[in-house]
Amino acid sequence: MQTTIAFFGGIYNNYLALESAIADAHARHVSQMYCLGDLGAFGPYPDRVFPLLIENEIQTVQGNYDHSIGNALEDCQCGYTDPRDNHFAAISYDYTLHNTSPENREWMKKLPEEIRFTWEDKTILLCHGSPRKTNEFLWESTTSTAFLERLVNEQNADIILGTHTGLHWHRRLSNNRHFINVGVLGRPENDGTTNVWYTLLHLKTEGNGQENDSVSVEFIPVVYDHERLAREMDSENIPAEFIETIRTGWWTTCLEVLPAKERRTGKY
Ligand SMILES: [Fe+2]
Repeated sequence: MQTTIAFFGGIYNNYLALESAIADAHARHVSQMYCLGDLGAFGPYPDRVFPLLIENEIQTVQGNYDHSIGNALEDCQCGYTDPRDNHFAAISYDYTLHNTSPENREWMKKLPEEIRFTWEDKTILLCHGSPRKTNEFLWESTTSTAFLERLVNEQNADIILGTHTGLHWHRRLSNNRHFINVGVLGRPENDGTTNVWYTLLHLKTEGNGQENDSVSVEFIPVVYDHERLAREMDSENIPAEFIETIRTGWWTTCLEVLPAKERRTGKY
C-alpha cells in the first residue's frame, strides 16, 4: 500500500498560488490535501481563498491569523516587537479583517487547532506553529533534535507537520519519526526566487527491513502568476514593501523573528 498526501502552509491571501498548488497536487494524484492555516495576511482579496479550500475538500487547521480574524481580535498574534514590523503587520491585518466576509470569519473561527489521523500504524499530527503553541516559531537552525524527539513522544505522533515560519524544512527523527515544516504558499522564501512551496508526504507499507524508506518528504516549488498578484496588490493599495517581496523573492518586513542563520541568506 502507498499513498501521497499534500500539505499547504500559510496562504496569506495568495489565492493564485493556492490555485496552482491544488492543480499540481491533483496532477500528482494525491489522496488528500490539507492546509495548516494562516489564510490571510500580505495579499489581496481574502475571500477568494475560501471557495478553493471548501470546493476541494481541503481540511484546514486554524492558524494564529485565522484565530485572530475569526474572533476579530486586535492583531494577528504574530508576536512582533519591532515597531516597523508591527506597523506593516497592522496594515495587512486591518486590510484582511475588513475584507473577509462574516461567513468566512465564522468558518475560520470554527477551525480545529490540530488535526490527527492515522495511516496504517502511523499517527500523523497537523498543527500550525507547534503542537504546544499555535504561534510558536520552529526554525531549522534553532530547533534541536532532542526537542523534536520529546515533542513526538509527548504527542504520541510519528509525523508532525507545521508551518508558521514561512520556510520549509524536514528533520528525520529516531524510529522513522519525522518533523516537517511544510513551508508557505503565501510568499516566497526570502531567497531571491518568486516561486513558493508546498509539501508532499509519501507513505508506504513497511516491510522487508525497509522501514526507513516507508516515509519520504518532497518539497514542491510552485510557479504561479506572481505578476498578476503584484498588480492586484497594487490596485488594493497594499504596501509597496509587500509587493516587492512577491516580485523579487526577498522579504522586506517582519524580519525580526528570523534567527541569525536564516537571516544571513536574505537581502535585508
Ligand atoms: Fe502563523
